[in-house]
Amino acid sequence: MLKYTNLVYFIMKKIQEGKAVIEVDENPKVSKKLQVFYNPVMKLNRDMTVLLLNSAENKQMQIADIMAGTGVRSIRLINELKKNKIKKICTNDINSIKKIKRNFKLSNLKLNKSKVEFHSEDANLFLLKSNGFDYIDIDPFGTPNDFLDSSVKRLSRNGILGVTATDTSVLAGTYPKTCRRIYWSSSFRNGFMHESSLRILIRKVQLIGAQFEKALIPVFSYAKEHYARVFFRCIKNRTLCEELIKQHKYVLFNPKTLAYEVSNHNFRDNWIAIGPLFVGSLSNNALIKKMINLTNDKEAKKLLTLIHNELDIVGSYDLHMLSKKLKVPVPNFESIIRKAKATRVHYNPNAIKTKLGIEELKKLI
Ligand SMILES: C[S@@+](CC[C@H](N)C(=O)[O-])C[C@H]1O[C@@H](n2cnc3c(N)ncnc32)[C@H](O)[C@@H]1O
Repeated sequence: MLKYTNLVYFIMKKIQEGKAVIEVDENPKVSKKLQVFYNPVMKLNRDMTVLLLNSAENKQMQIADIMAGTGVRSIRLINELKKNKIKKICTNDINSIKKIKRNFKLSNLKLNKSKVEFHSEDANLFLLKSNGFDYIDIDPFGTPNDFLDSSVKRLSRNGILGVTATDTSVLAGTYPKTCRRIYWSSSFRNGFMHESSLRILIRKVQLIGAQFEKALIPVFSYAKEHYARVFFRCIKNRTLCEELIKQHKYVLFNPKTLAYEVSNHNFRDNWIAIGPLFVGSLSNNALIKKMINLTNDKEAKKLLTLIHNELDIVGSYDLHMLSKKLKVPVPNFESIIRKAKATRVHYNPNAIKTKLGIEELKKLI
């Protein structure tokens, strides 16, 4: 079909993702300037959302897809979540509600129309005017920071918050000043920067939650390609908030030796302090196990299994970086994993997690 908009012709085609059929621009240049587009790279992000909500015990949820884009995520939730999961779903986007409505008509929806609401507002206004939700999905271009306050305010007890951040260069240390301003934390490029990004993001969300006595516990976190994704369970409990804040610490990193350690302090001569960041568990393994059992998708299964098997400790060592420092060839990965009682790491194929200290690991290498 040919559409004529603002003196530009868009050639549209239908595509299917999961159980959603939507119309997309045949020739999209994926960029921030193009306000609304379908991004196939984020299919895995949406797959994980469906898997997580199907694995969580929540039922009869009121769901808010606050930045819905083409509407593909909402349509997939409607068509792929188990029968008793959705009480109501609100699909909102400030730019694209016409497009969303068209796409909803293209898919054969497995939910009564009365349970679906469309909104075309700024996400913060939309949330603050609402009575609250059991699942809120924040999926912006760039930082989710602008939407944290209203989302946390409107997140119900025992609700789930899904947060995507695509400003990974900020979180991972390319723009440390911006990171301090937005996330109130110091970032630094290192071998486990994708993990420190997740931990910096988690702490920020937890601080916003703590203001409202909402403890936001990460239940599933991962870093992939250009984005970080964290799902939080919300428990209304002041003591739990304080417990979470006790887990906000620093990682001291020595760029000369590549040694690192978790610390309550942010200063040591010639070491760099990354953080504050959350040093607790990034995911709940029982939930991940359920997600693994629910999927047949190879990519999803692979990522989930890697995360499930990761040691629950802070940081990792990049063996390529370490070998370079030591001026020795990269060691056999499997052999080091065995000897160091280590695990692989989902965010870096060259890295391992081990309880060994740097000197012991260097000897092994
Ligand atoms: C990354 S896209 C969302 C993609 C979508 N969630 C998906 O899974 O395909 C970000 C969307 O946020 C919308 N947006 C940007 N600022 C907004 C705001 N203040 N309130 C509501 N929507 C906004 C844009 O129109 C865009 O469609």
